[in-house]
Amino acid sequence: MNGEHIIIVHQEASRGIDWKAIREDFPILREHVHDHPLIYFDSAATTQKPRSVLDALRNYYEHQNANVHRGLHFLSSRATEAYEKSRQRVADYIGAASADEIVFTRGTTESINLVAQAWGGKFLREGDVILLTEMEHHSNLVPWQLLAERIGARLRFVPVRDDGTLDLDQLPNLLTREVKIFGFTHVSNSLGTINPVADLCRKAREVGAVTLVDAAQSAGHMPVDVQELGCDFLAFSGHKMCAPTGIGVLYGRAEVLNSIPPWHGGGEMIVTVTLEKSAFKKAPHRFEAGTPNIAGAIGLAAAMDYIEQIGRAAIFEHDSKLTRYALERFSELPGMRVLGPSDQRGAIVGFVMDTAHPHDLTTFADQYGLAMRGGHHCNQPLMRRFGVPGTTRASFYFYNTVEEIDRMMEILRDAVRFFS
Ligand SMILES: Cc1ncc(COP(=O)(O)O)c(C=O)c1O
Repeated sequence: MNGEHIIIVHQEASRGIDWKAIREDFPILREHVHDHPLIYFDSAATTQKPRSVLDALRNYYEHQNANVHRGLHFLSSRATEAYEKSRQRVADYIGAASADEIVFTRGTTESINLVAQAWGGKFLREGDVILLTEMEHHSNLVPWQLLAERIGARLRFVPVRDDGTLDLDQLPNLLTREVKIFGFTHVSNSLGTINPVADLCRKAREVGAVTLVDAAQSAGHMPVDVQELGCDFLAFSGHKMCAPTGIGVLYGRAEVLNSIPPWHGGGEMIVTVTLEKSAFKKAPHRFEAGTPNIAGAIGLAAAMDYIEQIGRAAIFEHDSKLTRYALERFSELPGMRVLGPSDQRGAIVGFVMDTAHPHDLTTFADQYGLAMRGGHHCNQPLMRRFGVPGTTRASFYFYNTVEEIDRMMEILRDAVRFFS
């Protein structure tokens, strides 16, 4: 499903939702920073956590904590049941055909490394092409660079246009039969661009390439259904969607996932072990060596329950309204340049100011309790592409308000005066 589809189909999904009441579910949003009410505009880096997720973690440690899979005692069965139920919750959330297609990882980065090392290590040969885009986060670049160097594969990139969209006119020249995998982000973490995932997956299939979607910035923000998207792999992080840090997901289509050898060895992922050799469990357990992040998986399931209660279409609409409003207000500020498309974007606004480095501007804003992010956002090649050292990035989520954007504008107006 591409962004256009989401906006058209789900318009007015958020009608009647009490967003102010929802905000009350996030205790941290009552904090004061440097004597100012906290304005948290850094959700693209990590989101805040609602009380129901914090309660689920506490409940787990108070009533369920034991190691999973190996124990024959009551608590271990309880923990195992909760852990595997969370896997099913994730499968339902992204429309996977089965819980066996869900591998728990530490996050998007680990999920992509798993694909690069285990899938790439088995199926890629010298001279094969790995197609990525110029807007990839370092976590969807570096693992492929490491692999390419090791096996002699070649990297190709879909360029980004000045308006922050992918230059898809180039695709026929780039997505050729030499391409074995096409990895791309759903939503750019610097530009906010929403890429037409389903279309890209279809085109990749036509040349026999496997697809990997980086859903770090979309999984908590909009409807994401792996079967509708038609991808082979999809990676995301719990902490960017109301869940704790240290838990993430790799979805792999059953046929593809079952064709991959293990990547980490250890306990939990084996059937039998002799001193010389081991036999491994099927996916997904063969990819989860060692004691997993049990509490994290349970917290992720609680986060998904929470998000689904609001509705991802409603969240997307709310995010979009905030973003549109922020973009309009930015045009009032002299000497500010916003990067990225003017519409069809996630709740991310990256901007540069003529007179101040992003670090200075972000530090200035922090003095007023406004938390943004300044720098290259793990997008160094993209920053180079736009000829900037970095940007200041305001990123929103459903707990943010129009009033907070108004306050941001006052602070930025002060910054324009201060740095002029
Ligand atoms: C688009 C994108 N991909 C990947 C990542 C990496 O996520 P993590 O650090 O949770 O592994 C991020 C984090 O900012 C991201 O925005």
